[in-house]
Amino acid sequence: MRKLLEHQVRRCGLNKLIVLSNRAPFVFKGENMHITKAARAVSGLVSALEPITGACGGTWVGWGGRVAGESRVGGRVAVPLDRPEYTVREMVFSRQEYQRYYHGFANDCLWPLFHCFLEKAVFDHDYWQSYVRVNCKFAEAAAAEADGDALIWVHDYHLTLVPGMLRDMGYRGQIAFFCHIPFPPLEIFSALPWGEDILRGLLGSDLVAFHLNGYVENFLRVVEKQLQAGIDHGRGRIDRGERTVRVRALPIGIDYREFEAAARREEIRRRAAEIRRRVGVDRLVLSVERLDYTKGIIEKLQGIEEFFSSCPQHRNRVAFLQVAVPSRTEVQTYADLRSSAEEMVSRINGLYASNWSTPVKYMFKAFNRDELVAHYCAADVCLVTSLRDGLNLVAKEYVASRVAGDGVLVLSTFAGAAEQLSGCLPVNPYDRVDLAEKINKAVEMAPAEQKLRMATLQQSVRHYDLNWWWQGVLAGLARNTGSPAGAGKGEGPLAAGEFVPKRRPDG
Ligand code: UDP
Ligand code: G6P
Repeated sequence: MRKLLEHQVRRCGLNKLIVLSNRAPFVFKGENMHITKAARAVSGLVSALEPITGACGGTWVGWGGRVAGESRVGGRVAVPLDRPEYTVREMVFSRQEYQRYYHGFANDCLWPLFHCFLEKAVFDHDYWQSYVRVNCKFAEAAAAEADGDALIWVHDYHLTLVPGMLRDMGYRGQIAFFCHIPFPPLEIFSALPWGEDILRGLLGSDLVAFHLNGYVENFLRVVEKQLQAGIDHGRGRIDRGERTVRVRALPIGIDYREFEAAARREEIRRRAAEIRRRVGVDRLVLSVERLDYTKGIIEKLQGIEEFFSSCPQHRNRVAFLQVAVPSRTEVQTYADLRSSAEEMVSRINGLYASNWSTPVKYMFKAFNRDELVAHYCAADVCLVTSLRDGLNLVAKEYVASRVAGDGVLVLSTFAGAAEQLSGCLPVNPYDRVDLAEKINKAVEMAPAEQKLRMATLQQSVRHYDLNWWWQGVLAGLARNTGSPAGAGKGEGPLAAGEFVPKRRPDG
């Protein structure tokens, strides 16, 4: 994969890659410039971009989790610390920026709004001011790193103003933006008092990309209505006078071979077998995600309770493992979610435990890659119940790790990945009866049906992999400048970068 990525970069004549995201790929510990520890951050964004920056050796500008008396652009850190492959330019936030920009505007306004949880979104003008200031700091840091000529690749809802700010600063190089979360429909986006500023910021990019066609259609419609811009819906183009902005749907892929290879490693096989021995029942159902209300953990637990109540034959036969990765723990909604989830786990265990064994195991921690793959290998079923999810990489990783070709993926129809992953058992997480039925169907599925479904899943995850995604980004940019268009030629049924909306949105 690394070689392929490098090859793509050379073909496009890309001189330098600057990645910008709020969250750097590592959470740093240490005083001032002296960094003593770097723990890998957990998110789909980091999982997708790390192999690319590792291969291209670029610079990643991001927040390393450190908060100081005053905000500053920190030092350059070669990462990973033990075998450096690329550079992180660390952003350090002041306490006020941490609260107003990160927790306030990003986590309490844009995150719920973009996920269509309008009632949870907080619209606060001080938060917005802080958001503008922090975006400006990121733009300045990126311009300094780019030094005139680079691809600046901006990621996610935290930094929507950066592309426009870079243009205002006179930056003429290439800018791409990727949104890792859904883009909401006009009816929801219109609630945002600063929507037009955000759209103008995004349109500073040459390429704006989302996971799905549906998000692209929402974005184009919002731009058309709020900015009265000239839109070519069929081709996914927005006319900005001297520039054309391309809008694409490019669902992120995973490094399939890496997961496949890890799953075949002897020590991971041994660890998977040990997990199974310890679980000690016939079927293990795994869920692993950040503890976030968008992931539908409470709804899943309701479905599990319904399952044990309606399928008594499975009590003592089926165990669930919920790995809840700590996330945004200082936000009240997240703290409340943790309490509710833990209460429900003990309630279900109180009702259905027997002989010293509990049907729902719960961990509030993150796994490293090896431990994660060992759990994917050990689990008969992977249960993803997101209420709304940009894509969901866990679903794809589970599929890639099932090297024996068995296993069942139960996947919410509200996770973006469901559009790509035919072969899964689709579930409506809002319906506890459907959840119970799909869990039942998954744990009882015959081996032949498992293999058939898994083969379909693996074909798709293998084809639309990380390289396909990166190729699509480069192709979207190449057509803008007239540089090698061949970068977009994929050999499969759908070429990377060709995911364009096919019809006008009807609302
Ligand atoms: N992940 C991890 N350790 C864990 C749980 C998850 O490293 O204990 C990784 C996982 O491999 C995946 C990412 O975190 O690549 C989660 O991405 P996803 O798209 O599923 O959700 P997000 O957290 O971005 O909403
Ligand atoms: C999602 C977002 C990322 C974010 C991650 C973790 O995956 O798309 O941008 O980094 O969640 O959230 P955090 O607030 O800890 O960075």
